[in-house]
Amino acid sequence: MDRRQFLTTTAATLAAGGLAGTQAFAADPVKIGFILPMTGPQQSTGRETVAAIKLYMAQHGDTVAGRKIEVIIKDDGAVPDTSKRIAQELIVNEKVHMLAGFGVTPCALAVAPLATEAKIPELVTAAGTSIITERSPYIVRTSFTLAQSTVPMADWAGQNGIKKVVSMVSDYAPGVDAEASFRDQFTKNGGQIIESIRFPLANPDFAPFLQRAKDAKPGAIFVFVPAGQGAPFVKQFLERGLDKVGIKIIGPGDVTDDDVLNGMGDQVIGTVTAHFYSADHESALNKKYVSEFEKANNGMRPNFMSVGGYDGMHLIYEALKKTNGDTNGDKLVAAMKGLKWESPRGPISIDPDTRDIVQNVYIRKVEKKNGQLYNVEFATFKDIKDPIKAAKK
Ligand code: PHB
Repeated sequence: MDRRQFLTTTAATLAAGGLAGTQAFAADPVKIGFILPMTGPQQSTGRETVAAIKLYMAQHGDTVAGRKIEVIIKDDGAVPDTSKRIAQELIVNEKVHMLAGFGVTPCALAVAPLATEAKIPELVTAAGTSIITERSPYIVRTSFTLAQSTVPMADWAGQNGIKKVVSMVSDYAPGVDAEASFRDQFTKNGGQIIESIRFPLANPDFAPFLQRAKDAKPGAIFVFVPAGQGAPFVKQFLERGLDKVGIKIIGPGDVTDDDVLNGMGDQVIGTVTAHFYSADHESALNKKYVSEFEKANNGMRPNFMSVGGYDGMHLIYEALKKTNGDTNGDKLVAAMKGLKWESPRGPISIDPDTRDIVQNVYIRKVEKKNGQLYNVEFATFKDIKDPIKAAKK
């Protein structure tokens, strides 16, 4: 009898015979395999997510519904073939009950068929392309979608005198989502996209693309770069003097990532972006989150990827409470649907129809507070569902 059969038998015993099987069942840990980029260009996502997982467990303990939580962290370097190989090993050898993490969209997509086959939840805590949750009925997301931030950004830009925009995005799925959802909403609001530029995801040299954008003389550049690329983008934007000729940066908040914002320099003060998380978010829960996170991590500031991981752990804990420690994948996914809670980012829930996150999106402006740069929230778009999926209905 392998371990999975043993578990099933034990669970059946529990249901049929009351407490007889409780000891054996309770002694078995719940195993969660997190697949994250701990090395390579996306490593800030891995570092932030792992710090958040550890903080959540330090605050909430490592036992839920009588079962120990065992987190296994594996580095995929954000390479989809590696994610797939690791997922296979975690399912077959480690017999994990859930897979989680995924720093970039291609990695989340590569694992989707495996989650479906193994009938275990794939909890996406970092990647943001709309389509991901449609690739397996076992995928649940605590991160975000690009359209969630870009549609409110397009509304704000339309209402605030921005008329001509050059769109600049990383040339892969979330960039394509960002480009399309911004274009559709911004043009509906009377704005004009005068040029659409895509640059490669791997090792991009932004300089020639920024020169093209500058030559087009827009009022603003709409930019999407994934976490980890905001700092070099902004550096080259400033080196090319785009700010000096009055061109603004707008976009989803990945570009003014809390992980690197403070190092960007005072020239970014005033930059307006739209996003679901700022380390400056005004709530008691977030103040506690930021101070405990910074204390545990040598002053590292939590970013938007960290809250995806933190809320992912919360979702796992709450789902296990609801199933009474039962790790059956279908029961866990059913338990996750419709859950609502307060996150450090604000109120969030899991849409029971799409298994995607519903959250507020905030318009923020970079300001200096106590000598540090922060994205200071000043307007809220409430309870936003993924606009791309909403439009398909
Ligand atoms: C993604 O690949 O889905 C992704 C990665 C980093 C981001 C946003 C989206 O900041």
